[in-house]
Amino acid sequence: MIGRDLFLEGLSSLLSGGEGDPFRLVTVLANASAYLYEQLAEVSWAGFYLHRGDFLYLGPFQGKVACSRIALGKGVCGTAAANMETLVVADVHAFAGHIACDPASRSEIVVPLVVEGSLFGVMDLDSTRVGRFGREDALLLEKAAKVIEKALS
Ligand code: SME
Repeated sequence: MIGRDLFLEGLSSLLSGGEGDPFRLVTVLANASAYLYEQLAEVSWAGFYLHRGDFLYLGPFQGKVACSRIALGKGVCGTAAANMETLVVADVHAFAGHIACDPASRSEIVVPLVVEGSLFGVMDLDSTRVGRFGREDALLLEKAAKVIEKALS
């Protein structure tokens, strides 16, 4: 993987410009998901769920097909969203209520996105390796989330 600073600079540059474009939300999240998927090692799924009411709805992503709707408070995504906190799950089989979109997924990290003071959605990454994501990944992806939030605000 490229260095962390370069990773964040690359993301920022990818998402900059195009303010006022129609469909900018889709453009930003589609490119962000592709970037995360391409740049991070051992990631089997990278994408976004978007918040509206009591649910998260599937947004742009890279990887296998996924469940299209998750209730707030359910699964890893819904739990991270409800608590508005990054959630790292080292072994999804040990997380009660994990929603298995891809049975090969074994670990997961979910980072909430907050835009203009409200829960916008979550960034979700999966890996087929147990323990793929740790504290350093959480710090890096929280910074990446800030870059994405800025592009969406
Ligand atoms: N595993 C997630 C569902 C989304 S997929 O991983 C793409 C969860 O438990 O919320």
